[in-house]
Amino acid sequence: MVNFELNGAHVSFEAPATMTLLDMLRVELGVTSVKKGCEQGECGACTVLIDGYPMTSCIILAPQVEGRHVCTIDGLAENPLMKELREAFMENGAVQCGFCTPGILLSAYALLRDNKRPSEEEVKTAIEGNICRCTGYVAIIESILDAAERIAPD
Ligand code: FES
Ligand code: FES
Repeated sequence: MVNFELNGAHVSFEAPATMTLLDMLRVELGVTSVKKGCEQGECGACTVLIDGYPMTSCIILAPQVEGRHVCTIDGLAENPLMKELREAFMENGAVQCGFCTPGILLSAYALLRDNKRPSEEEVKTAIEGNICRCTGYVAIIESILDAAERIAPD
């Protein structure tokens, strides 16, 4: 039995020892915002926040989140910083197929939470584990910088 917090709610789930966190969230608990891509820790589509920090849920076993706080994009629906990020992504055309978007938003959220005015290089570093096959990254990086400007104007 794995006991953890998911988006602020306590969850108890009987997970096989070899089940990944990704499968527990997406297949068993129906959290489909967590995407399944490479399943090798390379693409970032399955990114979630564990105790506040971005992690790839495909290479973490479900039992490893015992007692931890797991946050998906759903848990930040009303969060003001995430709202700014979502709006910036929409305005800049940073979403095409959207497969990478939840993971990138979570990585960007963790960056701006801890660093209100990151440099372009810091943004690139923060999302280096998130692969986007559609947009070419320019609009994504601009969106994160735009959101930073909105939350912490000069
Ligand atoms: S599905 Fe987890 S990193 Fe690609
Ligand atoms: S928008 Fe399609 S993978 Fe990023």
